[in-house]
Amino acid sequence: MTDSLPSGLPAPRPPVDLRLDRPTPARMYDHFLGGKDNFAVDREAAERVKQAIPNTYEIVWENRFFLQRAVRYLAEAGIDQYLDLGTGLPTQGNVHEIAREIIPDARVVYVDNDPIVLAHGRSLLAGSPGTTVITADMREPHAILGNTDLQALIDFSRPVAVLFVAVLHFIRDSEDPAGIVKAFRGMMTSGSYLVLSHLTTDGPPPAAVTRTVEVYESATSPIVFRSRNQISQLFDGFALQRPGLVRPWQWRPEPADTMHTKWLYAGVAQISDTPTGRH
Ligand SMILES: C[S@@+](CC[C@H](N)C(=O)[O-])C[C@H]1O[C@@H](n2cnc3c(N)ncnc32)[C@H](O)[C@@H]1O
Repeated sequence: MTDSLPSGLPAPRPPVDLRLDRPTPARMYDHFLGGKDNFAVDREAAERVKQAIPNTYEIVWENRFFLQRAVRYLAEAGIDQYLDLGTGLPTQGNVHEIAREIIPDARVVYVDNDPIVLAHGRSLLAGSPGTTVITADMREPHAILGNTDLQALIDFSRPVAVLFVAVLHFIRDSEDPAGIVKAFRGMMTSGSYLVLSHLTTDGPPPAAVTRTVEVYESATSPIVFRSRNQISQLFDGFALQRPGLVRPWQWRPEPADTMHTKWLYAGVAQISDTPTGRH
């Protein structure tokens, strides 16, 4: 993506709220993954994170491969509808592409609060009926659940997978990340699944965590690392599936996945009828 237009060309109207003055998590993540849909302000911030965490590339791809294995596992279990919260910019192996390898008419709703995701997602999804991208904030679950485009695709009376992959660490404690998961859980019927990964304080060098938190203070969203215990509490009301809450690369690994870091925890859980799931 270019940062400025050649002179003489009329500037297209930018999408509402497309922030060019501050880095955004979606565009920084795109840079970490090796994408081109980011601006200088994002690349500068991302490079500062890479100075603090030299293996950023491994971390983001380890997370991405977990997402793909989890969706494949759920599609093989017969899940044909997905709500992907905090989608990020389209990259290789998006949720609908993975799910549709197994269930060709799987329906997928993508939600992100960064309007650049809608701009790029629309072109990816053009000609893919049964998918949509919504610009919305997961801190407002009821607005998402009441969205008519979502309601046209997701039938909450049947099992659904709700994905919070590498997103809840953009939610402050004061914004109640567990309450957000709980609001979606309230709509999920028996047999539904939660897929979740999260940055952790358990493993990484504390100084690198601190430097990363400082970089995101200049971004549109802060970043919050949590302990394994705090992350496990996000699964309340769900029963973790084997192998439990583990490093993303430990979750049903495939031989080709060689990214092994200590920066995240991840798990897949099924809704449980008891008030608290097993961790
Ligand atoms: C690190 S990316 C993860 C993308 C994808 N889930 C993955 O794991 O590959 C986090 C995404 O969450 C989005 N996000 C952050 N806070 C959000 C919020 N409050 N509501 C919706 N999306 C949010 C960001 O814009 C970004 O695209």
